[in-house]
Amino acid sequence: MDTLDAIYSRRSIRKFTDAKVPAELIEKMLEAATKAPSSTNRQPWRFVVLEGAKKDEVVAILVKRVVRLKRFKTLISGAAATTNLMQSAPVLILVFNGASRKRGLIRPLSTIVNVLDVQSIGGSIQTMLLAAQELGLGTVWLGYVFLAARKIGQAVGKKEQLIAAVAVGYPHESPSPRPRKNWQDVTEWFK
Ligand SMILES: Cc1cc2nc3c(=O)[nH]c(=O)nc-3n(C[C@H](O)[C@H](O)[C@H](O)COP(=O)(O)O)c2cc1C
Repeated sequence: MDTLDAIYSRRSIRKFTDAKVPAELIEKMLEAATKAPSSTNRQPWRFVVLEGAKKDEVVAILVKRVVRLKRFKTLISGAAATTNLMQSAPVLILVFNGASRKRGLIRPLSTIVNVLDVQSIGGSIQTMLLAAQELGLGTVWLGYVFLAARKIGQAVGKKEQLIAAVAVGYPHESPSPRPRKNWQDVTEWFK
């Protein structure tokens, strides 16, 4: 598969089969993620791979949080669906910002550095998703873990900022592409 094939064929997968994902494939995804570019090559990404009981524990934390926030209906509708898919995914990869606890920078600078680190981590997540596509795995990038970031971090012994999670498994659906704006509508080009 070439890169453009992987980019065009990737979809967010929210239904997974029960099949176990071989550890070697997860390792390949993680290795690909570490090849992403990063600001001053800081490589701020940190990953925690969850399967089995630990995964269930983390999902249960988010489920509890979503129930407690149920009065915020708009926010919670997507979050509840997200917890369901997390339960069915055999593997969950938590993505942390390993540089988020560094001190010694004055505030404006630390804000800029944080933005650059989060951009770098976004690039590593997308690289991981494209590698998974090539490997025949389904993935979905999950931002809703933010709702319980601190508690999820505690559950896996991390004090760093939780950025996102990626659910991984073998696809049990083949969704149509979600609509995109044309590149011409989102681009200004000065020639
Ligand atoms: C930063 C980010 C956060 C996301 N969070 C969630 C989420 O919490 N739950 C979910 O089901 N999908 C989530 N998604 C997936 C998007 O809904 C999906 O990428 C978008 O609808 C486009 O669909 P596609 O990935 O199939 O092209 C997230 C995607 C990104 C990039």
